[in-house]
Formats: sequence, structure tokens, C-alpha cells
Amino acid sequence: MNIQEIIAKKRDRKKLNKDEIEFFIKEYTAGNIADYQAAALVMAIYLNGMDMEEITNLTLSMAHSGDILDLSELGIVVDKHSTGGVGDKVTLILAPIIASLGLPVAKMSGKGLGYTGGTIDKLESIPGYNTNVSEKEFIENVKKIGISLIGQTMNLAPADKKIYALRDATSTTESIPLIASSIISKKIAAGANKVVLDVTYGSGAFMKTKEKAQELAETMTKIGKLAKRETITVITPMEQPLGRNVGNILEVIEAVEALKGNMELDVKKVVLELGSVMLKMAGKGENLEENRMHMLENISNGKALKKFKELIQNQEGDVSYIENLEKFEKAKYIIPVKSKKMGVVTKLPAEEIGKLSVYLGAGRIKKEDNIDYTAGIELNKKISDRVNLGEVIAIIHTNDKEKAKEAENKIQEIYEID
Ligand code: URA
Repeated sequence: MNIQEIIAKKRDRKKLNKDEIEFFIKEYTAGNIADYQAAALVMAIYLNGMDMEEITNLTLSMAHSGDILDLSELGIVVDKHSTGGVGDKVTLILAPIIASLGLPVAKMSGKGLGYTGGTIDKLESIPGYNTNVSEKEFIENVKKIGISLIGQTMNLAPADKKIYALRDATSTTESIPLIASSIISKKIAAGANKVVLDVTYGSGAFMKTKEKAQELAETMTKIGKLAKRETITVITPMEQPLGRNVGNILEVIEAVEALKGNMELDVKKVVLELGSVMLKMAGKGENLEENRMHMLENISNGKALKKFKELIQNQEGDVSYIENLEKFEKAKYIIPVKSKKMGVVTKLPAEEIGKLSVYLGAGRIKKEDNIDYTAGIELNKKISDRVNLGEVIAIIHTNDKEKAKEAENKIQEIYEID
């Protein structure tokens, strides 16, 4: 068997068998297949798709490319994953709320992909926070404080780590087989027995329509079931960015504010929806409405924020930044953009805002790029908001003067005000 034949088969729209898929995953993970060959195969999969059997084989091979964690000593663990979005800081808010209600959270998150942000980049913007912990420590953390959020740095689904970075750099992210295998392989490897998936659709999501999101959700539910992981999907819109802030430090600040009770309505809706389902799956409450109330209670009484601080401290982060948000480093150029029109915001495409935020430095263009944690965009106005002439619609944060100027014009173009 050789990789050229496998690439040619998929290029010619033929079905790959289990041995061929396993060969690719094993040899690419071991470094015996070059990035350019893997990129060609990934592009062929992107263009020609895969059937259910191929997706299942791909997912299982990726899951078994490294260790599979055994979390059975923690009891029921419900994991959560999003298919990606712009301004999506849900995990930072949801995970501590859930943990504060006594449900263990052991979650492996990803880095930013394409124009969508990644939870790991956001956590790493908190000085000192260590996303790179051993498997033993990961489990110890959860036993000790009930929560651990880590990156894909251990030997968990290493094939996904390589393919994920490759897809980011080769514009092959928006593909059902590639997204489904990426997410479910990580969930299998990370050991949770139950999984809630937030499947997004719209401008800021990889699935542009609700129908496509439904197809992705069904695919992931089927693979989850085959892998004996009870999987529930929640489909959420991502037409405009979620919440007010886009960019790493900016989103951490918004998440902390949310945990203090100042949560944007759209963010709240997703957090409560996913959390109430997670609690139900864990046997912590049959009634979704009551589950929502418990979650809100733990925000009001400060328990959720306390859990977030414990998480940061336990993973070597400097909790003084969370206690005093002013301590976070700021971008050199913080530029308010004033509206040249009067009216109501009718469109604020999340993809455009996501791309602009990456351009300002908040995401990667090449897989080895460094991120500027201070960069991003504050959205003062969102869809349906009224705007007066000269009123600030957004605030740009960047360390690059030239980019700041361009971004100002771009913001004027992105906002549709009628
Ligand atoms: N999140 C992932 O982990 N993988 C994808 O492919 C998309 C979103």
C-alpha cells in the first residue's frame, strides 16, 4: 500500500477501505507521510466526501492514533464540544458553572481554526495558564477540584492535532467527514462517556445552512453511538458573532463578566441550553427548566466564578488577572469606529468579523503563526440595535497601526445599517 494510490483513489471519487484509512492515519501520525501528501488527501476528501463507513473508520483510526483515557473512576463525565464559531466563549462560562453543580468537567479543547476562535488560545491568554498537562495530572485535577480544561498536547488523538493544523492552513475546514472525525475522535480519546455537541450554522460557522448543520449533527450522533458514547446535539445559529467581544483576552474578559452575572442574551441562551442538557444526561435533573435555574443560581451566588478561579489557579494561571480584569495587557491601538449612517443594524456577518479579527492578529494565518492575545474587536452594536450618526459601533484592538486603519474601513463595510 502506498499513499499515492490512496490519494488517487479518493481523487477519483472511490471509496477508501479500512486498511487504507488506517494506513494513512498511522503513517501520517508517525511522520512517514509528508504534509503535502496528507494535504492532497485531505483536499480530495473535502471535495469528494466520504460515506458513513469511511467516516467511522477515519474517526476510530484517529481516536486510536494515541492513548484513550479511562475516566471511569470519575463516574459520569459529560463532555461538550462546539463545531466552531466567532466570539464563542461558551466553554469558558459553561464549564465552571457545570463543575460548580457537581458534574465533573474533563475537557480537551482545540486551538483556533480558520476564522473561528479556539478555547485553548483564550485560556492561554491568561498569564501562566498551563494547557499542557500529563494525563495523570488531568485526571488528578478533576478529582481535586472537579474541572480541568486542557489542550491537545498529550498523546490524545495526535492524528487529529496534525490534520487539524493542516486543514487550517489549506482551507479544508468546512467538510462534514473532516469535522465529524476530528471532533468525535477527540471525544473518544478524552474518555467522556456522554457528549453534548453544539453544532453551529450560519455565516460564522463551518456549516452555512441549518440543513447542513443537521446533516453534520446526524453524522456525529451515529458515530458517537457506534463508539458507545451517548451523543446529543444542539443546533445553534451563528449568523452574527456570539456575544460582544471577539479576540482572546477580550473574550476571557467577557466570560468573566458573564460569570459575574453580566451575560449577553445570545450567549446565555446557548450556555443554558447546553448546560441543562448536560445536567440531564448526567442524571442531575430531568427537568431542563429547573436545570437552567440551578445554573443561574450558581452565577448569582458566585459559585461558578469561584470555580473558574479555582480552575485557573490549579492550572498555574495568575488568578489576579481574573480578580482585576484591568491587569490584562491591552493592544497599542484601541480605535472606536463611528457609524457614518443612522438606522438599525441589519447584518453583521460573523465570518467577516472572524476574518478581520484574525487579520488584526487574534488568529493564525499559517499553522506556525503566533497569536496576539490582545487583538480583536468589541462589537458595541449588533443586529437589531439602533445606531445614531457618529455613534460607536465597534472598537478595534490591534498592535499594528496600518492594520488598524484598514480595519476601520472594513468595519464600515461589514456592518449593514438600514
Ligand atoms: N472543532 C474541531 O475540533 N474540529 C473541527 O474540525 C471543527 C471544530
